[in-house]
Amino acid sequence: MLDGLRRLEYRGYDSAGVAVITADGLAVERKAGRLANLEAELVGQEGFVGTAGMGHTRWATHGAPVDRNSHPHRDVSGKVAVVHNGIIENFHALRVELEADGVEFSSDTDTETVAHLVAREYDGDLPETVRKVCRRLEGAFTLVVTHADEPDMIVAARRSSPLVVGIGDKEMFLASDVSAFIEHTRDAVELGQDQVVTIARSGYEVTDFYGEPAPTNHFQVNWDLSAAEKGGHDYFMLKEIEEQPEALANTLRGHFVDGRIVLDEQRMADQDLRDVDKVFVIACGTAYHSGLVAKYAIEHWTRLPVEVELASEFRYRDPVLDRDTLVVAISQSGETADTLEAVRHAREQKARVLAICNTNGAQIPRESDAVLYTHAGPEVGVAATKTFLAQIAANFLVGLALAQARGTKYSDEVAREFHELEQMPAAVSQVLQTVDSVRALGRQLADSKAVLFLGRHVGYPVALEGALKLKELAYMHAEGFAAGELKHGPIALIEQDLPVVVVMPSPKGRAVLHAKLLSNISEIQARGARTIVIAEEGDETVRPFADELIEVPQVPTLLQPLVSTVPLQVLAAEIARARGYDVDKPRNLAKSVTVE
Ligand code: M6R
Repeated sequence: MLDGLRRLEYRGYDSAGVAVITADGLAVERKAGRLANLEAELVGQEGFVGTAGMGHTRWATHGAPVDRNSHPHRDVSGKVAVVHNGIIENFHALRVELEADGVEFSSDTDTETVAHLVAREYDGDLPETVRKVCRRLEGAFTLVVTHADEPDMIVAARRSSPLVVGIGDKEMFLASDVSAFIEHTRDAVELGQDQVVTIARSGYEVTDFYGEPAPTNHFQVNWDLSAAEKGGHDYFMLKEIEEQPEALANTLRGHFVDGRIVLDEQRMADQDLRDVDKVFVIACGTAYHSGLVAKYAIEHWTRLPVEVELASEFRYRDPVLDRDTLVVAISQSGETADTLEAVRHAREQKARVLAICNTNGAQIPRESDAVLYTHAGPEVGVAATKTFLAQIAANFLVGLALAQARGTKYSDEVAREFHELEQMPAAVSQVLQTVDSVRALGRQLADSKAVLFLGRHVGYPVALEGALKLKELAYMHAEGFAAGELKHGPIALIEQDLPVVVVMPSPKGRAVLHAKLLSNISEIQARGARTIVIAEEGDETVRPFADELIEVPQVPTLLQPLVSTVPLQVLAAEIARARGYDVDKPRNLAKSVTVE
């Protein structure tokens, strides 16, 4: 279980705990902080002997990350143990009800209510009890429940949070994702919405919340343990940065067949794609930045209006949508609550949803009308890297699919664009071979108080992404700006020696923008900024403007983010390392944000 938790720790690392069903009842240990704290606590402890149990790593929502709020949570008798991922939204009312019954709570969590409810409702049939309790819960949850009176059984349930079952040889697993048990089996069953699975010696059984047998999705995991290991790197993130050429190539593979772009799953008619008259792109964080890049390509290729919006904002306003609106939902995990809710919001208004996702069968693709997977492989580092590049490539495929369906591009033009995309893994490999100087620069910048990032056109989302990487990894103040906005306020931030990263467009591809950016650099240089310029190889005009020059290969304008983002990922990782931070697990963050 500890090995499994280690692989899931990227999902949350505020505290960890285990419960083992032993001959003497439940043995439980919980500890605030990283999994290592729990492991240290367990050293020398006897009594954790059994063949069934559960473990948890937490990302705190209700209650501070202290021992008593760590999972598993138990009922008053200590016979019931529960771990939970998600949020029980009506927990307060349930807690009041239980307290009125005389139940004493020992934590501040929403999860503990489930343990007490199970104990109160239990009548010798744990699966039925869990179903009954689930029917009372609101919100998003994956729950795993045991009862000491039925020691050969574990019951789990899910609503809007992920849960997969691993089917091994005389052994069974339950986890939020397959990386936890991939070392033991690749044979997996994914649970659907509002389903309960009972695991017993006789096998497993899946029902809905009312006890009716439920359909499930049985699948074979197509990557192995080595893909989820660090492969000789100090951090997963560093390995994942290096995997970017492969991630790009895998994302493109198989999507251009007989001269046409094809998606992975299309549960809508071709005519629906032809009828699209407006596109919304919704996503969060890095995925949102990839969406900003998509806007330039989709508008250019299809002449469709494209709006890009943060999923958390889209969800709570009244976007004008109808059945001819295509909503492109981008999510690495496919389980981000903000994006999932935005997808539901869009579908309620009859819009078609196309998901771009890195996780096979996750909730967002399940609830969408069409799916394009980014085949970037598992991304464990909390900071998104290879999935960002893969998302950009997937966005371009969507743009080309739309251009093809609407006839705004001839098939030879689509083929040419696709062929240019196919050159990008090699271009990214080239960048990766030259990042040692970026690392050295990162070490020099480790004591900076702030870094600004500037870009125009597709360089603007790159600037935003560079700033996000630095904030989340190095805990350094960082802001990305559209360079044209500088004179409208941000230039007041410029002071002597402030590092400013500038993402230059190609002097050939975008001569006008290139000239404008040179002017912007002059303005900040005149005010004392230390300029770090990312520019195309052979762009000699930029040299006098750059205190530090980072060169990237010449590529078509729209594809520039694929090469210019890579040095910024390396820079942020190196600054974070120089400051002594854990690059894979930045403070306060979790890989999958399954709460709104
Ligand atoms: O799984 P998703 O792509 O939906 O996640 C969206 C964001 O939470 C994610 O990109 C986040 O911003 C990353 N930590 C950025 O590195």
